[in-house]
Amino acid sequence: MSGAALAGAVAGAAYIVAALLFILSLAGLSRHERARGGVVYGMIGMAIALVATVWLMIADVTARASGTSAWAQPTAVLGLVLLVVAVVVGAAIGLWKARTVQMTGMPELIALFHSFVGAAAVLVGWNGALHTEGIAPDLIGIHHAEVFIGVFIGAVTLTGSIVAYLKLSAKMSSRPLTLPGKNALNIGALLVFVALTVWYVITPALWLLIVVTLLALALGWHLVASIGGGDMPVVISMLNSYSGWAAAAAGFLLNNDLLIVTGALVGSSGAYLSYIMCKAMNRSFLSVIAGGFGIEAPAKDGDEVQGEHRETDAAAVADLLGSASTVVITPGYGMAVAQAQYPVADLARRLRERGVQVRFGIHPVAGRLPGHMNVLLAEARVPYDIVLEMDEINDDLASTDVVLVIGANDTVNPAAAEDPGSPIAGMPVLRVWEAANVVVFKRSMASGYAGVANPLFFRENTRMLFGDAKERVQDILATL
Ligand code: TAP
Repeated sequence: MSGAALAGAVAGAAYIVAALLFILSLAGLSRHERARGGVVYGMIGMAIALVATVWLMIADVTARASGTSAWAQPTAVLGLVLLVVAVVVGAAIGLWKARTVQMTGMPELIALFHSFVGAAAVLVGWNGALHTEGIAPDLIGIHHAEVFIGVFIGAVTLTGSIVAYLKLSAKMSSRPLTLPGKNALNIGALLVFVALTVWYVITPALWLLIVVTLLALALGWHLVASIGGGDMPVVISMLNSYSGWAAAAAGFLLNNDLLIVTGALVGSSGAYLSYIMCKAMNRSFLSVIAGGFGIEAPAKDGDEVQGEHRETDAAAVADLLGSASTVVITPGYGMAVAQAQYPVADLARRLRERGVQVRFGIHPVAGRLPGHMNVLLAEARVPYDIVLEMDEINDDLASTDVVLVIGANDTVNPAAAEDPGSPIAGMPVLRVWEAANVVVFKRSMASGYAGVANPLFFRENTRMLFGDAKERVQDILATL
């Protein structure tokens, strides 16, 4: 067996092992307790895949240069050098980002990563269009279809992810863009794409590829710009799914089995996560992936002031907690911003030591990432068994003495349940207002991520505790 054939066989086997490790990784990530192990499986799988790919390239260069010096094959050697440089530079940037990113900055970083996958798929597609030599004539039609579909999915992912990045990092308004006839625009773009694909397979003219690239870039931008702040969580997982399909499309073009399998794993798990999140948020899956298809513009933006709020202070909250027998803590994005999870965990422990029943109620989209609050609470060593999902805690809230809303806003907004004209109408929320007393920790009367005013702040049984959540919880701990 020649060196290149041996390398091909070994790389094929290594790819199967890597794919199995990626499946084990996904399985591990589906549960808190096994998540760390899941990440380790993924890292080992990726290391095996990288080593196998580099080895395959070296074998390829050596085979092409057989009989002469390897340096006689400048293109192949240059490819290898570029690969090594790209891996080193990419790994350095990745390590630096992973070490420096704040937990609150993770969602926008993930959105940016998705855009890189989209850009890579577009480039691989264009490369495939420009280099068709060596493809069997009876397969050329399939190749053209792969190029076209890969470029389309990649370009939608690219601009969609950039808009998601801009919205998540507040560089662009989180309000939905509602162009006249937006649904017709989206459907029209899809129909044009199908027609152009057929055309390109029959006559692969380069201008068709330019048109589909521009069309897909505009569609990706429009799809995500049309989604309101409250639905962004679904968009993130949807873009995750798109990036997987974009990678799978690139895998077909590069004839790389591992890329196809990995892309399909990411694509299908991302699609399933989007579906679960849509169900949890009472949103139509099809409507969200179609850029808010069928969702009318909100009757009002709900930003108006709604009456008088009542302020409290740390000493009064400590008194209230001192006389409570049941307490529920509902954290949100503000807890992550304030890094208040450690004092919050201390507060829960102190109250439990005094015999108070303390539980946490977690909304499925609290924070800016699926599971954001669970990660923070696990980091602060809050026991899993007192951290409950929204559906598990909601019916108990009416018999709760005190609810502490720590930096949460949209996820506890009664307008979602009570006001059909609200932009977040129909989204299930934690019904904290049913408790005897509610204390809201935040810095101002500003609205949450969806930009919707919150009538909870003006309820009879609500008290506002203004300031940074970490400092206020520490003040309460000092008084307790
Ligand atoms: P939000 O509605 O975003 O509200 C967070 C609140 O925290 C704000 O009202 C803010 O008020 C307060 N806050 C910020 N910094 C604070 C600090 N240092 N101390 C105290 N309070 C602070 O949060 P939520 O209830 O968690 O809802 C999440 C929202 O994000 C939903 O609309 C959801 O759809 C969206 N979203 C979620 C995800 C995922 S996957 N979870 C992804 C993208 C978007 P002040 O400024 O007045 O302090």
